[in-house]
Order: sequence, then C-alpha cells, then structure tokens
Amino acid sequence: MSMQLPEDLLEREMTRILEQYRAKPEQVRAIFLDVFGKNKKLLRNIHDRYPQEDVTRWRDYKAAVKEVRKRVYYALRQYHQGADEATALCEQLAAAVNLTNDVADLRDITNQILETHVSTRERRPYLTALYEQLFAAVDTPEHIVDIGCGINPISFPYYAPYTPAIYTAIDKDPRSITFLNTFSKIWTPLHPRQQDIRECAFSDKDTPDLILLLKVIPVVQRQAPDLLPILANLPGRYICITASSVAMTRNVAIQRREDRVLRDFIAATGREVRTTIEIPNEFGYILC
Ligand SMILES: C[S@@+](CC[C@H](N)C(=O)[O-])C[C@H]1O[C@@H](n2cnc3c(N)ncnc32)[C@H](O)[C@@H]1O
Repeated sequence: MSMQLPEDLLEREMTRILEQYRAKPEQVRAIFLDVFGKNKKLLRNIHDRYPQEDVTRWRDYKAAVKEVRKRVYYALRQYHQGADEATALCEQLAAAVNLTNDVADLRDITNQILETHVSTRERRPYLTALYEQLFAAVDTPEHIVDIGCGINPISFPYYAPYTPAIYTAIDKDPRSITFLNTFSKIWTPLHPRQQDIRECAFSDKDTPDLILLLKVIPVVQRQAPDLLPILANLPGRYICITASSVAMTRNVAIQRREDRVLRDFIAATGREVRTTIEIPNEFGYILC
C-alpha cells in the first residue's frame, strides 16, 4: 500500500478544515490524500520524523495544507460538484427516459441528480416544505417561469403538490439545460431555455403567473448588477425570491447581509410582500 499521512495527523487537519468549510469529510480526505500523495519526499520525511518532531511547522507541510484548503474552497465554489458523476447520471437519465412514460419511475435517478448541484443538494430534504409554503400563498399558477433555475425544475413532479400547464426553465448554464432537456422528454410541462437574463422577455400572451428566482438575486447582484432592473420589472403576477442563510463555502451565517440585498430588490420592484418563506439554509419572500 502507498504511504499516506499518519491517521491522527490527517484527522486533526481534517477537523480544522471541516470546522471552517461546509465540505463533506470524504471529500476533504480525498483531497488530503491526493495532495500529500503527490509529495512523496514530504511524506517520507513525515514518516521518518513524526511524532518526535512537530512536522506541522515545516514550510513544505504548511504549503501542502494550504493547497488542500485552496482545493476544498474551489470545489465548494462550483454549483455543479462532481462533473464526471453528473455526466454519467445524465447519460443514465437519457437511457431511462427511453424506457418509460412514467415520471415516477425516474424518482431515484432524479434525486441523485439533485445532489450534484449545490443549491438543490442543500434544499432537497426541505423541498416539500418549501413548495407547501409557496403554493399556500399563491393561487395555483398555470405558467411558472424559473429564472436562473439550475436543475431545480426536475424536483417539481416529485415534491410539488400539483402539475402546472407550463414550466419555463431559464439558465445560461449549458450543463443544467442539458439535464432539463432530457427530463422534459418525460415531464412535458417543462420547457428549458438556455438563455441569459439579459434576453428574458415575455409577451402579454405568455405572461407568467409565478416567477421563481431561487437564490438568484444575490448572485446577480454580485456578478451583474446591471441585470437587476430587468428582473425587478418582470411581469409575473407573483414573484418568489430566495437567498441562502449560510455561506456556500464557510460555516458562516449570511442571512442579514443577503436579506438587505433581497429588500433592496423588493423596493426596486415596487411590489408588496405577500408572505415570507423559510426552510433550513434558505429564506425568501413572495411578492405580488
Ligand atoms: C445559486 S444558483 C441557483 C440555482 C437554482 N435557482 C436553485 O436555487 O436551485 C444561481 C443560478 O443562476 C444562474 N445564473 C446566474 N447568472 C445568470 C444570468 N445572467 N442569466 C441566466 N442565468 C444565470 C446560474 O447559472 C445558476 O444556475
């Protein structure tokens, strides 16, 4: 077996990182083993001189731990985590869609796919609660438009209490739209569009009953604030906006900061708050 970091040292370093970052232990362990595994000279020295010597003070040891931190942070910044797994799941979904006409048969694979996007992975245990709060507050919408949708729309047939006539799903991210295009073959209300918010427009004929902007306003505010007026002036009867209450990477509460962003947006829409919604890790408003 190849040489590895001594287990007690690995556990200690992992604990520090897991206290700070919202990563999974197995993910952090794999990164540690990879980074140290590539540094054979350092590993040999550690095995020769640990525990007699405090190896954690060595410059190359510190550099390796810094590299691990950087990679953990970078992995957490990705909306789609586990690109290879996601590609394999998309192929499985495409094959499964050809074998059935019943969306219920795809529940397991859909749940696995929801785990590959950071927003839906966090939300999945509370999806039923989120949809219950949402649809208790609005008249059953026939046309839903989900902007910056990620892969959230594929949760709808399994967790929402009814089926809309049309569910338009818009995102600029091609990977999300590929999943949605495949899923739309079996769940026909779904109409995916790979489109930037900049190009979003609705005629009087296709005015949405409900617009979903789930965890989108804070992203747009940071990345492209010039797009906020487009979102603020959308014509839907209701708009649902949400934000995260915990940071994507670190174990830090961000609800107050994100709430200021949502409230500024609400003021820009000129709409009224019909109700608030809240699940663990996410909070928001329904506007009318
Ligand atoms: C935090 S994710 C939320 C995904 C989804 N709404 C959810 O909550 O599961 C933000 C999404 O907004 C999309 N997005 C960001 N800027 C966009 C833009 N200018 N046009 C279209 N989509 C955008 C990203 O591709 C990403 O899928």
